Amino acid sequence: EYIYRLRGIKHLEEQLKKKLDIHEVKIVSGNFEEDEYVLTDIGKATASYIENIIDDSSIIGITGGTTMAAVAKGITRASKNNNIVVVPARGGIGKDVENQSNTVAAEMARRLKCQYQLLHASDTLGQQALESILQDPEIKKVTNIIKSVNLLIFGIGRADKMAQRREMSVEIVEKLKELKAVAEAFGYYFTREGKIVYEMKTVGISFKDFEKISTVIGVAGGANKAEAIVSISKLKKSMILITDEAAALEILEKY
Ligand code: BG6
Repeated sequence: EYIYRLRGIKHLEEQLKKKLDIHEVKIVSGNFEEDEYVLTDIGKATASYIENIIDDSSIIGITGGTTMAAVAKGITRASKNNNIVVVPARGGIGKDVENQSNTVAAEMARRLKCQYQLLHASDTLGQQALESILQDPEIKKVTNIIKSVNLLIFGIGRADKMAQRREMSVEIVEKLKELKAVAEAFGYYFTREGKIVYEMKTVGISFKDFEKISTVIGVAGGANKAEAIVSISKLKKSMILITDEAAALEILEKY
């Protein structure tokens, strides 16, 4: 049974990797939307992937969200290198303290027993406030580290759900619909083809930075995120995707 299942998953990973045309795909069995343990498993699978690839030159950037919170909690092995640094990839203070990138980064560092830096800037600052905050030496220090991230772990969201969660204005929600945004990742909104249609003004990694980062791991589960995953996979061929069986099957069937 188990071997059969494992073979099935391996085959699915191969198929999805081919379909999305990215570097690597890892699939956790089950459906995130029906079984809460699948989220824990996605977290564990991602965490063990990270534990295996980090070395003493790793500068890890991580976003917020429920998936990334599960990834941080999935870390069980302390790193042997105390040079490793974890930073929030982008943005800062939101309403949901549990799942914001600062909390996630700190939790991951606590478990890895490595260093971390936090970003004390809100996700919802106006342009002027943002510009002045960027001059702050503490913020500058952290944004400089963020610019040198060489391992990025990020959650993938649906554009509509993320706009809702971020309590964006009706105008912006309408605009996102009109522009056919289907996915969101690290503050950017994308069409199914992976074209940027909207960007949140915040501090942290830019899309240009993203393109230069050597190792990026996108993580998302659940069939309802299928289209968002398809979109984000267009951004970078060297990407590693960690997802669940339900999302994988949905992508293979529908896209
Ligand atoms: C957010 C990230 O915190 O999590 C987003 O900043 C991402 O870029 C989102 O899309 C995904 O959230 P979740 O809760 O579905 O894992």
